Amino acid sequence: MDRRITKALFPVAGLGTRFLPATKSIPKEIMTLVDRPLVQYAIDEAREAGIEKFIFVTSRGKGALEDYFDHAPELEQELLGKGRDALLGELRRTNMDSGAIAYVRQHRPLGLGHAVWCARHLIAPDETFAVILPDDVIAADKPCLLQMLEVHRETGGSMVAAMEVPPEKTPAYGVLDVREETGRTISVKGMIEKPETGKNPSNFAVIGRYILSPRILDHLNAARPVAGVEMQLTNAIATEIQRGGDVFGYRFRGQRFDCGSKAGFLQATVAFGLSRPDLREEFSDFLARMVGKPGVA
Ligand code: UTP
Repeated sequence: MDRRITKALFPVAGLGTRFLPATKSIPKEIMTLVDRPLVQYAIDEAREAGIEKFIFVTSRGKGALEDYFDHAPELEQELLGKGRDALLGELRRTNMDSGAIAYVRQHRPLGLGHAVWCARHLIAPDETFAVILPDDVIAADKPCLLQMLEVHRETGGSMVAAMEVPPEKTPAYGVLDVREETGRTISVKGMIEKPETGKNPSNFAVIGRYILSPRILDHLNAARPVAGVEMQLTNAIATEIQRGGDVFGYRFRGQRFDCGSKAGFLQATVAFGLSRPDLREEFSDFLARMVGKPGVA
């Protein structure tokens, strides 16, 4: 039986090229859905799942992300003085305990596997840990990571969040080779990164939530970065399966938005905007008026 999982990695060192020119100076993870940066959604989900230690794998140009986690005493004082209690509460809820966050640098964007590997010295040799990709935002009654941790308590091993996608979309994802499905839990016999069209072993795509055995770090350690080739996390998980480790997919309940893509980000903005009581009426009226129109001239 695993110990309680209290550490999560947030790989945020990617270049975010799909959002250029914005990401020339703003980290993608600081871009906001309504009024909260993507990273805040990820932190909230982790906290609700019982995570206490937060490790960010960052890179050059991500200073604004680190600053976001600073406390803002002057601002708090100002809001207090003006009696803006609700806003003050909102602001304080984003405060992190001193020492709860650690940052490690990925010096070159050599892939998600490499980003996870960069944090290897901050994970104990016997420590199972979570990984959250903040650009996958998941709206769910019970946070996705919490759903996974509850099931993981029974299964042990490693676990990835899985989602069924149309077959033609599988080349964009890591895809599961399924041994057996039991309810929402999928026992996995293989994993393949971005399969060629028609060569997908299933329609179950892996999305940005993982619970990983520390052995995955050993597999990443054994894989040497090759110039120009990204180090895939999927390959390390596939190695774990080949070596006899248990790996499960979990079909989470909830709606996932790919906020790493422009279309996904816009969809999330609409969905989260409409879910806000203070915005719903005005925003839905506006959307109804815009449907079928070409947008701004
Ligand atoms: P993406 O594949 O979305 O890449 O990474 P990206 O660089 O962020 O964005 P594009 O494709 O250029 O627009 C998925 C996640 O893995 C992290 C990213 O920060 C993102 O959270 N990542 C990716 C790293 O931390 N390091 C890498 O070398 C690659």
